[in-house]
Parts: sequence; structure tokens; C-alpha cells
Amino acid sequence: MKVLCVVGVRPNFMKIAPIINEMDKYNFAYSRKEVFEYLLVHTGQHYDDNMSNYFFKDLQIPPPDIYLGVGSGTHAEQTAKIMIKFEKLCFQKKPDLVIVVGDVNSTLACSIVSAKLLIPIAHIEAGLRSFDRTMPEEINRRITDSLSEYLFTTCLDANENLRNEGLIENKIYFVGNVMIDTLFKFKKIAKSKVKRFNKFKTLKYGLLTLHRPSNVDNKTNCQKIFEALIEISKEIPIIFPAHPRTQKIIDEFGFSHFFQKKLIFNLNQIKNIYMIPPLSYLEFIYLMDNAKLVLTDSGGIQEETTVLGIPCLTLRENTERPITIKEGTNILVGSNKDKIIKESFKILNDRGKTGKIPELWDGKASQRIIEIIKMSNRI
Ligand code: UD1
Repeated sequence: MKVLCVVGVRPNFMKIAPIINEMDKYNFAYSRKEVFEYLLVHTGQHYDDNMSNYFFKDLQIPPPDIYLGVGSGTHAEQTAKIMIKFEKLCFQKKPDLVIVVGDVNSTLACSIVSAKLLIPIAHIEAGLRSFDRTMPEEINRRITDSLSEYLFTTCLDANENLRNEGLIENKIYFVGNVMIDTLFKFKKIAKSKVKRFNKFKTLKYGLLTLHRPSNVDNKTNCQKIFEALIEISKEIPIIFPAHPRTQKIIDEFGFSHFFQKKLIFNLNQIKNIYMIPPLSYLEFIYLMDNAKLVLTDSGGIQEETTVLGIPCLTLRENTERPITIKEGTNILVGSNKDKIIKESFKILNDRGKTGKIPELWDGKASQRIIEIIKMSNRI
């Protein structure tokens, strides 16, 4: 079975890594004719080393077989560039299956190409919905799901969303969460390998990530969030590994004064939000696992904090991952300054929400996915 596995941005790498490992395991166990002949295709949507290349080493997977090198652009430009290059690749490689993950422009672009060439698509992380069409990811998710043959979901509410959109029941498979497969595999490794942040084990700190256009492209929202963070940082230092787009916008808005750029811990300092370059996967999970609280607008971090039992405040008005609120440690605070401060102090004063690990987030999602692909007769 010839398979193209598509990645494009940072969080895609953690999702595809366990799938590749499972295919390797399968090939090793059944080294006869019936094997997965897979190629890892990187669209190049993320291209900085610390947003891309370094992750392959951390995740113990080989570098991509094919790099499309599309880079940045408007949504239409980026999507179109990926489509043109990916179509050529499909003509050349003639895959039996294309595996896409998540909800980014690379996911959408490769799904449209595959569907038009009648190549079956497996969508990992199908059915998540924020019901907010102002998010580009919501459009990407809906279109990708409508075109996919295999809809692999992380939770039962995603199955329900897919049913409500009229998708056929026998395409939907509740398998668990591949990102959590990776988290379980590397949590221990991070503890032993990450030396740089050793001294943080004994410190109390908050961890922040911020990159969504709704937060960082909007000067007023951005300012409200930073003002709240300044208040919180008077109580505990906040470490802020910043996405390149966020760093750029902070400079453009003239907000650099909110941050320290050197990571030295001095609790007496007032301005102690430490803005640092993006971290490696192992460094980030190490810091997340030890944090008092996490503030984020990312999707995956809402899930990872739930599994680690770390309180998470999501700086968004909605989430496509409601299970992390219902069962996990997540609370939505939007860009509401008072709410961000109030909920943060609640967490700092008593431990915050504890929650439980959602069903099938057990480290075996990728195993289930590969078994389903092999056992189904659709290819
Ligand atoms: C993308 C995804 C988002 C995901 C995020 C993970 C879409 C629509 N958005 O957002 O869902 O949560 O990845 O990080 O697909 N840039 C660099 N270096 C890089 C990559 C980006 O400097 O390696 C800068 C460029 O200025 C670029 C901007 O960041 O224009 C935005 O990058 P882009 O890939 O368009 O979207 P993200 O914000 O990263």
C-alpha cells in the first residue's frame, strides 16, 4: 500500500510521528508483500528550523522524504501553492492513500487534491468543531472531513458532529488521540534529556503560548491579554516561547516593553514575562509538565495539559475541543482581562481544575488507526 503522509506545521509532526512508527512496526512484523510503502511529505508551511527541522530529531523520526517548500503567504496563496506541488507529486507517486492530520492549510490543500484524483484520504483528528467560521481552521476541518474516506476521531462528540453533517457512519472511527500517543512516549524521555531547564523543577512559573490571528492580529485584544499577563507575572514569572508571527507583531505594535528577553529568574522583578524563541518538543513538554498554570490559544496544548493534569486557561472565546473543558483541566477565558486575572489567581491560590484523562487517550490511537486501515477492504 503506497501511502503519502502529509505534514506542514509544527503540531503536525507530533501527530504523524506515532503513525509512522506504527507503520514501521507493522512492516517489521509482516515483512512480506503486504507492507506500508510510505513517504513523509512536508509542505514547508512552517520552515524555520525551530518550527520544523529540529522536531524530527526530537520525535525520533527520519526527516521528510519530500519537501515542497511552499513557505508563507495569504491563505489562498499558501493553499494554492501546496495544491499545485502536491498534485504533481500524486501524479508521480500514485499513492493508494493520503494521510492528513489536524486542520491547517496543508491539511486542506492536500485533501482537495487527493479527492479530485480519487485517492482515498484518512483524516486524523476528524470531527472537531468550534462552530466559529471566523477561524480558518474551522473551514479547513469541515472541507477535509467532507472529502475523507476514513474519519479518525479523538472523542465521541466529534463523531456526533460528523453525523450531524450527514457523513456516513461507516467512515467514522473513534480511535483516541495520536498527539497523546506522542506525549506518553516522550514525557519520560523529556525528563531525562532536557538539561537546560533543570533548575525550573523547583520553581513556580506559568507557561504561555499565543499565535492565533484573533488574538495577535488585533491590537486591542493583544493589549488586554498582555495587561492581564503583567498582573499575573507580579505573582509568578511567565515563560513565553513565542511563535515567529507573534514576535513580529509584538514588534510592530510596539509591545516589546511588556517582556524580558533574557531568561533569568528573579522573582523581585516586576516585568517578568520572559519572551524566548520557540522551544523544541521535549523542552516544551518538560516545561508544561512542571508548570503551575498554562495560558494558551493553541489547540493541542489544551489536550496535553488535560492529560498532564496541569490547569489550562485558553485565551479564546470557543474551543473545538470541549472535552478538555468537560472532563479535563481547561477553562475558556477569551481575551477578557478581568477573567484571565481572576481565573489565574484562583489556580495560584488553590490548585485549579484537576479533571480526568478522556476515553481512549491511552497512547494506542495510532495502533488502532493502522489496524483499521489494514483490516478495512476499502483500498
Ligand atoms: C498555522 C495554522 C494554525 C496552527 C499553527 C501552529 C493554518 C491556517 N494555521 O498557523 O492552525 O495552530 O500553524 O503553529 O494553517 N512564520 C515564520 N516561520 C515559520 C512559520 C511561520 O516566520 O516557520 C511566520 C510567517 O510570517 C508566516 C506566519 O508566521 O506568515 C504565519 O504562518 P502560517 O503557517 O501562515 O500560520 P500559523 O500562524 O503558523
